[in-house]
Amino acid sequence: MTMRFSPLVARIAGEGAAAWALHSRATQAAETDPDVIIMSVGDPDLETPQIVKDAAIRALQENDTHYTTVAGVSPLRVAVARRFSEQTGVPYGLENVMITPGTQSALFFSSMCLAGPGDEILAPEPMYVTYEATVQVTGAKLVRAPQPAENGFRPIEQAMAEAITPKTRVILITTPNNPTGVALTHAELSMIADLAREHDLWVISDEVYGRTLFGREHVSIAALPGMAERTVTVAGLSKSHAMTGWRIGWAIGPRELVAHFDNLALCMLYGLPGFTQTAAVVALADGPDGAWDAADGMRDIYQRRCRLALSALNQISGLSCVEPEGGMFAMMDVRGTGMSAAEFANGLFEAEKVSVLDATAFGPSAQGHVRLSFAIADDRLEEACARIGRFVRGRT
Ligand SMILES: Cc1ncc(COP(=O)(O)O)c(C=O)c1O
Repeated sequence: MTMRFSPLVARIAGEGAAAWALHSRATQAAETDPDVIIMSVGDPDLETPQIVKDAAIRALQENDTHYTTVAGVSPLRVAVARRFSEQTGVPYGLENVMITPGTQSALFFSSMCLAGPGDEILAPEPMYVTYEATVQVTGAKLVRAPQPAENGFRPIEQAMAEAITPKTRVILITTPNNPTGVALTHAELSMIADLAREHDLWVISDEVYGRTLFGREHVSIAALPGMAERTVTVAGLSKSHAMTGWRIGWAIGPRELVAHFDNLALCMLYGLPGFTQTAAVVALADGPDGAWDAADGMRDIYQRRCRLALSALNQISGLSCVEPEGGMFAMMDVRGTGMSAAEFANGLFEAEKVSVLDATAFGPSAQGHVRLSFAIADDRLEEACARIGRFVRGRT
């Protein structure tokens, strides 16, 4: 048989998939070797709050096992809208919210409904690895604006402005950023908002790490004047509440756009499980009956680990880390060791069984850097830093 596939298959296979080769090797090795330390993925090692798990179990026992409203159950849409209104001052309601299986799907829904063949989506790089396929699946082209390491991986107005063409439909941003840990300031977001208004563009703002900021306030671009009408904000519970496996995310935007999301979900998903959504309402609730504050405790843990790792790693000659402002990752510049990021990541795994990601997969600006994840326990982290030191000393 000649296997023929649709043109879409080429658009969704790319660099992003290849980036995970070393990580896959490491996870496979870790199955039989407890000595392997995985610092190449952002799946929190912390536990989903018990109260959230209990709510899901209760809902299951109460037979919440049937079809649900395609756009998400009303109590959850209301809870998401309320939280985001509190944060932004924008009066969002249930009809502005689409519940999705994770932030990843919210990104997919957004790009599918905002761009298509012939269009361009502009995103500053380094950027999260799935963005390329998430944009290209629509038939649109991903255009990258550099955020060089020399500029602290921060956005540059000129680079972004120059990348805008008559075909640009959307600017896609991430704050805090994975992999760089940069949280965009009010001034940077204003610059991006000005570009969006001037060129009449949408903004997709990925804020999945928005509850994981270290000692600063999270700013959403939707809160800026005139931006709510042209912004779709995507986020979820994966990172804030250690709920990656639950697949709870959302997209918040103008109700006209959410109506299109609803149509897309109708032909693709036909709704999400009720019991996970019921539990998600508890994750977003305040007080003793909710787990909203649990996210603060988790953030403090990541911040502590980040300090711990950076103070150890920055003492190693040849290495320097970019201090993250949020999230669960840090970028480490390995150029001083004379190794490329790929040589460093592969060599480190071979010699010391510690897996980190060659950050080049996130964009050319990340060349010479590897990404470290803090989703591992403190003692493992300390051990990993010691092994990294030994590896570098052995090579330089
Ligand atoms: C920047 C960014 N966006 C989206 C996602 C996907 O998150 P979710 O588990 O909510 O789909 C991730 C996961 O690592 C991420 O780092």
